[in-house]
Amino acid sequence: MNAGAGGKAATAAPLRLPHYLVMAGVAAAVVLACLRYAPPAAGYGLLAVAPQPEAAARIGAVAVARAADGAEAGATVRDDLPRAAPASAVVIFNFGDSNSDTGGMAAVNGMNINLPEGRTFFRRPTGRLSDGRLVIDFICESLHTPYLSPYLKALGADFRNGVNFAIGGSTATPGGSPFSLDVQLHQWLYFRARSMEMINLGQRPPIDRDGFRRAIYTIDIGQNDLSAYMHLPFEQVVAKIPAIVAQIKYTIETLYSHGARKFWIHGTGALGCLPQKLAIPRDDDADLDAHGCLKTYNAAARRFNAQLAAAMGQLRQRMVDAALVFVDMYAIKYDLVANHTAHGIARPLMACCGYGGPPYNYNHFKACMSAEMQLCDVGARFISWDGVHFTEAANGIVAAKVLTGDYSTPRVTIASLVNSTLVPNDG
Ligand SMILES: *[C@@H]1O[C@H](CO)[C@@H](O)[C@H](O)[C@H]1NC(C)=O
Ligand SMILES: *[C@@H]1O[C@H](CO)[C@@H](O)[C@H](O)[C@H]1NC(C)=O
Repeated sequence: MNAGAGGKAATAAPLRLPHYLVMAGVAAAVVLACLRYAPPAAGYGLLAVAPQPEAAARIGAVAVARAADGAEAGATVRDDLPRAAPASAVVIFNFGDSNSDTGGMAAVNGMNINLPEGRTFFRRPTGRLSDGRLVIDFICESLHTPYLSPYLKALGADFRNGVNFAIGGSTATPGGSPFSLDVQLHQWLYFRARSMEMINLGQRPPIDRDGFRRAIYTIDIGQNDLSAYMHLPFEQVVAKIPAIVAQIKYTIETLYSHGARKFWIHGTGALGCLPQKLAIPRDDDADLDAHGCLKTYNAAARRFNAQLAAAMGQLRQRMVDAALVFVDMYAIKYDLVANHTAHGIARPLMACCGYGGPPYNYNHFKACMSAEMQLCDVGARFISWDGVHFTEAANGIVAAKVLTGDYSTPRVTIASLVNSTLVPNDG
C-alpha cells in the first residue's frame, strides 16, 4: 500500500517558498533565452586515474611549463593544450540540492536564516540547512581545500577552488524548481564562457583553462524529484525515474563535451527513513520495515540509484578517458539508521529540530525555524536535523564513509581523482 501518500507534506519541504518559483522561473527563462552560446568542446586529454607517482610528476612538470607559456601568451592562448596549475590545487564544481547547498538558496532569495541553523559548527547561520557542515564540506576539508562558495553569493565568494551551483529545493527535472539541474548547468556554461573570455582578454579568472579540465564535477540531486512524486502509486513513481536519471546523464554528457573528465556522482539516500516522510499520516504500519523506515520510499530510492548507476555504466563505455564514479549514498544512509547504536545515535528516526516530540518530532506546519520549534540539546546525536536534512554529526559519519571509497563504483577515493593527470591524446 501507499502508506505515506498524504501528498501535502511529501512535496512541501523542498519547495516551501512558492513565490520564489515564479520569480526565479522568470529568471530561468531569461537565462535559457540568452544562453544559446555554448563554447566549443575543449581539446581532450586522456585521463589516467591512478598514475605512477614518477610519471605523474613528469607529466605535471611538462604541463606546468605549458601553463607558464599560456599565461604569458595572453590572448593567443589556445584551448587545446593541457595546462596545469600546481598539482595540489583542488577544483570542484558541485551541482545539487540542499544536501550540498553551502548558502546559495539563502543568498539568491535574500533569506535571513537564523540560529539554530549553523549552531554546532559555524556558530552562525551560513545558509546550510543543517546545524553544521554538509558532506561536501567534509569532502573539501579532506582535500585540504576551502568550503565551496555558492555561485550566486554576492559577497565574500572565492571561486579559486571551484563553484557550488547547488541550491536548496532543486530538482533534476527542468522546471521542477527555479534552479533545476539544467539551470545549474547553464550557469556553469556561463561561468566557463566568461572565464574563457577573461583569459582571452589577458585577465585572470579564478579558475584557469586547465582548472576546468582538472576539476572534479560532483552531483548530488534527485531527492526532490522523487519526493515530489511520492504521493503517486509506486509504479507511477518508478515510471518517472528514467526521466530524472536522463537529466543527470545529459548533464554529465554536456560537461564532458566541454572538457570535464572527473565525475563524482552521489545516489540518493534512504528517503523512507526521513522523519518528514514518516510523519505523513498513514492508515497502518504495514509499509514500515524492521528499522521503522517506509519500504515504498526506500524501494523508489533504490530503483533510482540502480538506474543512475546503470546510466553511468553506459557513459563509462563511451567516455573511456573519463573517471565516472557513482557513490551508493543509500547504503551509507540506511546503514546509519539500521546500525544507529553503533554510531552513538539513540533516535534515528526523530528530527532534532521540529515539533511534536517522539517518535518523529516533525510537523509540517511547525517546522524547524518556526516559532514553535522543539530543539534537541546541543551535542545530542541525531541523524536528522530538521526532518529532511542531516545533522553535522550524521553528515560527518556519511562523509567518512564516502571518503573511504568503499561505496564507490569503481572503487576509488575522491582524493585519488585530484592528482590524476590529463595528458594529451591524439585528438
Ligand atoms: C596532490 O599532489 C600534491 C603535490 O604532490 C600534494 O601536495 C597533495 O596532497 C595531493 N593531493 C591529493 C588529494 O592527493
Ligand atoms: C550494520 O553493520 C553491520 C556490521 O558492520 C553490517 O554487516 C550491516 O550490513 C549493517 N547493516 C546495514 C543495514 O547496513
